Amino acid sequence: MCGLTDPLSAFIFDPSIRVVCGSGCLSELPTILDDLNASRILLVSDPGVAAAGITDRVQSSLSDSGREAVLFTDVSENPTSDIIEKGTEAARSAGSLDAIVAVGGGSAMDSAKGINFLLTNGGRIQDYYGFGKAESSMLPSVGIPTTAGTGSEAQSYALISDAETHVKMVCGDRKARFHTVLLDPDLIGSAPQSVKAAAGYDAVAHAVESYVCTKANPVSQMYAREAFTLLERGLEPFVCDGKENTAGDTLLGAHLAGAAIEASMLGGAHACANPLTTAYGTVHGVAVSVMLPAVVDLNLNSHRDRYVGLYDGDLLTRLRDLRSRLGLPGSLRDLGVDAGAVGDLAKAAAEQWTGTFNPTPIDVDVCRSLYEASL
Ligand SMILES: [Fe+2]
Repeated sequence: MCGLTDPLSAFIFDPSIRVVCGSGCLSELPTILDDLNASRILLVSDPGVAAAGITDRVQSSLSDSGREAVLFTDVSENPTSDIIEKGTEAARSAGSLDAIVAVGGGSAMDSAKGINFLLTNGGRIQDYYGFGKAESSMLPSVGIPTTAGTGSEAQSYALISDAETHVKMVCGDRKARFHTVLLDPDLIGSAPQSVKAAAGYDAVAHAVESYVCTKANPVSQMYAREAFTLLERGLEPFVCDGKENTAGDTLLGAHLAGAAIEASMLGGAHACANPLTTAYGTVHGVAVSVMLPAVVDLNLNSHRDRYVGLYDGDLLTRLRDLRSRLGLPGSLRDLGVDAGAVGDLAKAAAEQWTGTFNPTPIDVDVCRSLYEASL
């Protein structure tokens, strides 16, 4: 069953990423790099993942298979153009490279893509704002996510902030996609519970928003539906009870939710979440968790049909309940945002590109009502 009113609307289905799943599949990395004929590797990671010892494991895997790794771990939570330039300089000073391996959360994935743009096509990351701006081929890359959340490893886009203007740039190109993604659930247990909760709820929001957005199609809905099913089954026990046997469901669910975005778009919860992150530094997944129920409530009023087939139950109640069980904030006031801030937030949210794909059109007044409903 499909929640689309017109499932034959035009869309492009363009999968290309090889995905290797399963406990311990990190051990496949040398074989994958053999296939790529890659011996000199740029390894992009972040300090938290390095501190957890995961970067060392990957580096050992590379050196044990006779490979040379150039390590760049200065990745921050919201990578900036400065970080991308720094990583590119580190890579260039190491000489020629054959491939990039990214290990970490969405920031490491995005940084690896950003560095790949500059290494192979030159210029500044600002030059790639938009889609399809890279003229030359790019280095083959391998993505190894260590959190279940953004699904960036499934996407052609890197989200990079301009260090001067603070504009969040979406830099995309089909060539920037990872050649292979390793989904190893053994790697995602070390993150703090609050990080797992926020990242996991963000993945749930990706499934929900992509399923009903105006760019949804039968393929994106297939990904979103399966993502929601896996996350519904795995996320709560993974975060709340530490049940490691549900990590695989959670990791694959987040990946498929990312693939659903790649094949469609997002919607109003992300449009309203982004200004909270910009103005208050709210963690993305937390901002999304505060806003998602209000947006779903709005959409259910006028586009209930689009949700058909996603969840066999009361979706809105489940989303609120899941948020509470994961220990995530339930209101804007929990984030320190009061009613006086709603006007400016609404203006910023109405300008978000992602909001244009929400099934219910959202202008400044609608955004204001969404924030007010979330106070
Ligand atoms: Fe998100």
